[in-house]
Amino acid sequence: LQETRQWRPLLHYAPARNWMNDPNGPILIDGVYHLFYQHNPVEPVMGYISWGHATSRDLLHWQEEPIALPSTPQEQIYSGTVIYDRDNRSGLGTAQNPPLLALYTSVFRDMPGEQEDGTQAVSVAVSLDRGAHWTRYAHNPVLTLDPVSRNFRDPALCWYEEGGYWVLTAVEAEQQVVKLFRSTDFLHWEFLSDFRPPGYHTPEMLWEVPVLARLPIEGEAGRSGWVMIVSVNPGGLTGGSGTFYYVGDFDGTVFTPEEHPAATDDPWQYRWMDYGPDNYAIVCFAGTATPVSIGWMGNWNYANQTPTAPWRGQMTLPAHLSLARQGDGSLLMKQKPVSLGAPIEVFAASEIRPEVGTPWRLPDSVADCTDFADAVLDLQLVIDPAGDVVVLTVAATEDGRFGTEILYDPARQELVVDRSRSGVAVPNAAFTTRHVAPLSPQDGSVCLRVIVDRSSVEIFAADGLVRMTEVVFPLSHATTVTLGSYAGSACFRSVKARWFR
Ligand code: FRU
Repeated sequence: LQETRQWRPLLHYAPARNWMNDPNGPILIDGVYHLFYQHNPVEPVMGYISWGHATSRDLLHWQEEPIALPSTPQEQIYSGTVIYDRDNRSGLGTAQNPPLLALYTSVFRDMPGEQEDGTQAVSVAVSLDRGAHWTRYAHNPVLTLDPVSRNFRDPALCWYEEGGYWVLTAVEAEQQVVKLFRSTDFLHWEFLSDFRPPGYHTPEMLWEVPVLARLPIEGEAGRSGWVMIVSVNPGGLTGGSGTFYYVGDFDGTVFTPEEHPAATDDPWQYRWMDYGPDNYAIVCFAGTATPVSIGWMGNWNYANQTPTAPWRGQMTLPAHLSLARQGDGSLLMKQKPVSLGAPIEVFAASEIRPEVGTPWRLPDSVADCTDFADAVLDLQLVIDPAGDVVVLTVAATEDGRFGTEILYDPARQELVVDRSRSGVAVPNAAFTTRHVAPLSPQDGSVCLRVIVDRSSVEIFAADGLVRMTEVVFPLSHATTVTLGSYAGSACFRSVKARWFR
């Protein structure tokens, strides 16, 4: 297969070669961000799942490191988490050199030579050199269900300050239940409770990668609220996989979601972390001062069919998470992308009223020296909701025949992404459907931030209340950006474009 350099992301992590899915155990330690991930080191498809490893100083530019935890004929290494055992509570390091611990999902072959995956359980691996080398704990697994389960996986950790213990969340995926445990030493786990609210469940749905987190409430100094993030597959709004969250309360034993949306089986009543198709298995970094998330920019519907080579799979941009108080007192999650650094180019304009049939075109050569195929575009748009439907096209060809379309319909209060002409389509019907997010004006305007890397479009709307993430495979040098209108009075109050590398 020929290398598809034109789609190699600039500011998103992708392994040099082969398959990647979920992020695992992202952690900041000694000023270095570590990212582990589900990785097939031998093929560009799901299989032989091991933990890959990469490091970064800015969350944007990554250095691939040697495999952290390789699969063996007896065990694949499914998703999990990494924690710095600062006080050496596990006893697996020393007081002078506390260990990093990986709590991962062992997918065992129950019988030697058997082809079927067997028991899933939580195991531990230890690093005494800040993540460079890992050793499996001698008495693995440390947490097994009774009776044993073939779909018990994806441990994540959350510190419960009031109780002075760690809470582990994991799923029994087919039962669509999050199981909560506690421990003070990471090795012995005591069952706390099951979380399986009534509401949106379907027979085929899997619950995966549950994350219990405490998020700061914007503008309310020192106050925080609890969320439970759940990845579901199938069951996402666009088909395939997707990630929703509950806001609620955690008392140290039980997570109780607030009334809404627990009682409804309508997925549109749920709070989705992303209304696009490609943001799954979202987890948070350990060790950061405030919560920072990262997700797998893919969808199980077609992940094995995307056209990149020799790698397949990339991560989302990391984002700061917080809760924002709404007019009715409820809390919603906000996601804001991490700083993209210093722009290499900036363009700004006010009041653009594109004419029907003649879209306004963003100047594409602000400086002679910049090749925009080698830069990430970050657009900030303010739309006048009193106007007609606006359409922004990014990663478009010169002739306008190809591009990813982003529409805002003020009458329906909907943001729509259409990638049916985005470039090379993934051979799967689910790829080309239109994706819709509810989006109402805030303080009389609709604000969009659109970040375009070489094979992705990420949208953060309404200051991060609404997110849409889409992988796209544009034609070579499709760097044109236009603002268009279907009827007379479409209006952008301002347009700002910045380019980053
Ligand atoms: C989520 C998931 C997890 C599992 C891993 C396997 O995408 O299915 O439940 O641990 O991926 O790679």
